[in-house]
Amino acid sequence: MKTEHAPTIQRADYRPLSWTVETVDLHFALDPEATVVTNRMLCVRNPDADAGPIRLWGEDLKRLSLTVDGQAPAALRESGALIEIDAGGDRVVVEVRTRIDPKANTTLSGLYLSNGGFFTQCEAEGFRRITCFPDRPDVMARFTVTLEADRANCPVLLSNGNLIGQGELPDGRHYARWEDPFPKPCYLFALVAADLVALERTVQTMSGREVLLQVWVEEGNLDRCGHAMDSLVHSMRWDEETFGLELDLDRFMIVAVADFNMGAMENKGLNIFNTKFVLAKPDTATDIDYEHVESVVAHEYFHNWTGNRVTCRDWFQLTLKEGLTVFRDQQFSADMLARAAGAEGAASARAVKRIDDVRVLRAAQFPEDAGPMAHPIRPDSYQEINNFYTATVYEKGAEVIRMLHTLLGQEGFRNGMDLYFSYHDGEAVTCDDFVEVMSEANNGFDLDQFMRWYSQAGTPRVKASGEWNAAVGSYTLTLAQYTPATPGQHAKLPLVIPVAVGLIGPDGRDCALRLDGEAQDGATTRVLKLTADEQRFRFVGLAAEPVPSLLRGFSAPVVLELDEDDARLAFRMAHDADPFNRWDAAQRYAERVVLAMAADAAAPVPDAFVAAFRALLGDGALDPAFRAQALALPGEAYLLERMAPAEPLALRAALVRLMRTLGERLAADWLALFDAMQVPGEYRYHPADAGRRALANLALRYLAAAGDGEGLARAQTRFEAASNMTERFGALAALVQSTHPAREAALEAFHARYRDDALVLDKWFALQAGAWRWDDAAAPVLDRVRALLSDPAFSLSNPNKVYALLGTYFRANPGEFHAADGSGHAFWAEQVIALNGRNPQVAARMARALESWRRFTPALQASIRAQLERVLASEGLSPDVAEVVGKALDGA
Ligand code: TRP
Ligand code: ZN
Repeated sequence: MKTEHAPTIQRADYRPLSWTVETVDLHFALDPEATVVTNRMLCVRNPDADAGPIRLWGEDLKRLSLTVDGQAPAALRESGALIEIDAGGDRVVVEVRTRIDPKANTTLSGLYLSNGGFFTQCEAEGFRRITCFPDRPDVMARFTVTLEADRANCPVLLSNGNLIGQGELPDGRHYARWEDPFPKPCYLFALVAADLVALERTVQTMSGREVLLQVWVEEGNLDRCGHAMDSLVHSMRWDEETFGLELDLDRFMIVAVADFNMGAMENKGLNIFNTKFVLAKPDTATDIDYEHVESVVAHEYFHNWTGNRVTCRDWFQLTLKEGLTVFRDQQFSADMLARAAGAEGAASARAVKRIDDVRVLRAAQFPEDAGPMAHPIRPDSYQEINNFYTATVYEKGAEVIRMLHTLLGQEGFRNGMDLYFSYHDGEAVTCDDFVEVMSEANNGFDLDQFMRWYSQAGTPRVKASGEWNAAVGSYTLTLAQYTPATPGQHAKLPLVIPVAVGLIGPDGRDCALRLDGEAQDGATTRVLKLTADEQRFRFVGLAAEPVPSLLRGFSAPVVLELDEDDARLAFRMAHDADPFNRWDAAQRYAERVVLAMAADAAAPVPDAFVAAFRALLGDGALDPAFRAQALALPGEAYLLERMAPAEPLALRAALVRLMRTLGERLAADWLALFDAMQVPGEYRYHPADAGRRALANLALRYLAAAGDGEGLARAQTRFEAASNMTERFGALAALVQSTHPAREAALEAFHARYRDDALVLDKWFALQAGAWRWDDAAAPVLDRVRALLSDPAFSLSNPNKVYALLGTYFRANPGEFHAADGSGHAFWAEQVIALNGRNPQVAARMARALESWRRFTPALQASIRAQLERVLASEGLSPDVAEVVGKALDGA
């Protein structure tokens, strides 16, 4: 049975609108419960479209009036959110007045209130919740906006572009008028009217223009904006240097808001951010928070060109802006890390960033690609577009751009970008347009087959095998590819897969590579292009049998299938010259060990694995940040994905046992490492220091897992004496993830210290929701999660709180969530139903936590299915949740 609660929209059905909008003049009389919006649009007939009515969309609006050239329209038809108006001539002025209730808007889409201020979120289809408009990204108009509000409550009035007027009004009200010189789709519209203060800086752009940068926050947070401002300036410089792209406005604003569905939003000249990705100071933010602030600021800033100046024709093209912009922010962060590390450490620093990105891809995107929501980076259909802001569109999308970069080279890619802007600046385009200019800028480079990455879902498998011919010194590598079927897409065609290859000699050093029939050029890594189902590559001139190192730097978003015994993995863990693959060898080895332990509760931890781990741990030549990555076990979500059927409780038991064993058997090493990794002096956010702190925190985690007395004592001292959040929270996490009697007291002390700090309390909620049980007698984590639901600091209306408490429990604690009695699943249904009525986008994100239920054991499947059905049958289900749960139940 197919369940369909909302109509499905097809990519193939795209048609240009008969009428678009040239200019919009908006007037907002802001009031918490009755805001009146007056919208004057100059509508123009689209010469490239069929004749038809003016089409506008409106949702949850009280329409007060609508006129066409000052008259009541001759004909107006309405169905659902769509309004159609017949109009003659080629240019008409449509004026609509609507009334909205921002206070009642709990969806955080459209115009809403947060802590007394007014904020908007329009991507993807929030603008229709503000006024009637052709709410599609292919309608690009010039906006002028007047805001009118109470001066005492809302002293600051912001919108896109330049401030062109402001003044006082009667009754304690005031106004500001803004004009955005660049045509834009309405999803990039924004306004803010609130009581905020700004950190300001003026800088010169590459062409010598002076621009004003502002970071707007609530007054008490002014001391937490410096890092966001620095990140913005670095992003501007990087885009100038790397792509020749300059800021095109005289003023660029970032505004922080505590209630926000996602990370941040790239509204033209007025980026709105979740506070979590703006505010940072040493006492409240960890090194990882600092990194995230930097990359999210960069991401939104980079959208100004990749997203805003050139935008998407329709929402199926979302990866056009998101995949490309994620790729850009990843490159930026890698460059920043490499610069901080200096010439010697640059390669390792880049690898650490690559490892982070691949961890995210494997933990979030691989499971998505293997589940009922699997879709190509450019989907063919959707019911609710908000459900398609996914790891596939973003992270796999970035991998596809990275492969283009690999195939075309740095310079070829840059030439393609230049051509992209020269052809398409000011336009709304498609993924095909992008790939086409990349080809054209590179002498017609054939990318036809490459386009399959845009249309095929599923994670491709690359199966590799090697054959050594001692008599002639040749090594033949056979690479084969296949992609598993995904819902609605059974037959798959071969893709273009760049496979970066090195061959390691018995001495542990890379061999110079020579392919049969080619000249020797001294290279030790080569990118092979796998385009057929199966291909052979013959390397010659080798003195001894090599060990292959494949998919170096994770050159393609695939699963590599290669038979390697433990000894070979240990060898690559010790010698692979590619740091990414060295890490990956450690991950593969750990995965093998932990899955064997999950399959057999009596299976011991192999001595050889402990020895390989100890060797990495003690290798002082390795960058601490890299060691912290290599000594961290593979993520639980990724491991579950590798198990068939998935047995979360057995996996958890194996992970607990493995961490304990590594903690016990290497206790002296961890203690010495912890002591060696102390960072003296005052806290500064610097990658070198961050690496040391990460490794010290990891050492504490292993020691705490083992219940090591000295380790726990160090954790407690560090918790009490820490001068920064990275150390304090690292120590708290170690205490909480142990059986130490002081864990509750430490949680309480932390709470007391930060009781008024919403972002720090999110960490406190998440830590408890994500805790493992190290003591068999301890109560299930669900008891704690339920209790925390009624903590005064918790609120189902604040997405950060929901993600911290419920998101962590549902998505990052499978060993507790999938309790055999089904209590976790019943709790999930209860919470998804509660959230559905308030905030469908957030509810749908939580709902996705159970989509992969068919991978579990039969007993868990039965438990989950019952709860999925319960949610599907609940009253007033939003299209967002209905799509997720419906697809989960439909299956392939
Ligand atoms: N375009 C935003 C980004 O990637 C994503 C975003 C922010 C968003 N808020 C949203 C998407 C709300 C959908 C709904 O930077
Ligand atoms: Zn984005």
